[in-house]
Amino acid sequence: MLQHRAVDKQLVPEILLALPAWSDMSSLEKTTNQAMARLHRGRRQVAKSLGWLQSAEIYLDDWIRTDLPEYLDDPGFPEERRVSIVQLLHRFNQGVWAYQRFFNMLKPYLQRIEQQQGRAVRILELASGSGEFSLALAKIAQRSGISIAITGSDYFDEHVNACNNKALRLGLNVEFKQLNAFDLSEIAENSYDLVFIAQSLHHFTPGQVAMMIHQAMRVAHTGFMGVDGQRSLSLFAIVPSAGVLMRSRDFIHDAWITLRKFYTESELTMIGQIAAPEAQVIARRSTLPGYSVLTVMHA
Ligand SMILES: C[S@@+](CC[C@H](N)C(=O)[O-])C[C@H]1O[C@@H](n2cnc3c(N)ncnc32)[C@H](O)[C@@H]1O
Repeated sequence: MLQHRAVDKQLVPEILLALPAWSDMSSLEKTTNQAMARLHRGRRQVAKSLGWLQSAEIYLDDWIRTDLPEYLDDPGFPEERRVSIVQLLHRFNQGVWAYQRFFNMLKPYLQRIEQQQGRAVRILELASGSGEFSLALAKIAQRSGISIAITGSDYFDEHVNACNNKALRLGLNVEFKQLNAFDLSEIAENSYDLVFIAQSLHHFTPGQVAMMIHQAMRVAHTGFMGVDGQRSLSLFAIVPSAGVLMRSRDFIHDAWITLRKFYTESELTMIGQIAAPEAQVIARRSTLPGYSVLTVMHA
């Protein structure tokens, strides 16, 4: 529920066709935000001609949505509580076997790139938070015999510093740096093979996600992969319960906002197609339930 596949199948191509051309990051951001607003308006219009169950789903989805920021994104929120939220998210990730699953999603690309390029696969992780996926990826790839060079990054210095200390302590060759996920202008073209981001797309507006993808395609030789929770009602039962188990009001607050903000797979596809019109854009649900995976690869 909440994916609106049948309705969007008709609406998204119409919106893409009528979209004005964009020329720079600012017009890409504006155009993408407008396209998303049109999609939501279009759904409400179509809802009037649908049966009650389908139209109720569209109105419920609209009602759930929010623009409220998470504590994690609030620079005014106490630093130590932000760090504590990403650490709790790490425990949640361990509980749902997230890191191995993210690796499994990346694996075919890693193997292909290593084989084609004959060198270590260069990966940039954006919004890496606790940094635990970048660190886990270094270990899992080593165990799997895949050679990688991974750089983690986050907007907040406290995460970056904590991650660099952790990598040093563990003796892992993973570097973390401060980066705004939708401003990659300082990075040279083709510096990486893949740009990856986990559980963070919903932190950004559609326009910001589009700017991120467009710039990722410039800095990455192969492309971009974003994994985020799948927009669905079932997660409304699971994720806040995890927050209650962890006894953290901050985690529950952010988890609740997160669920309301997740993008649908057709929304992710539309954003990817606007940001990188020449690329191969696919958004699908993960093999095991819970995540949506967006891949934007150079054709
Ligand atoms: C939900 S956490 C995800 C952390 C990690 N990827 C994971 O899966 O555990 C979202 C992360 O996005 C980061 N973030 C927020 N705004 C950002 C921005 N503009 N650029 C880069 N990172 C940002 C936050 O600091 C936080 O670490």
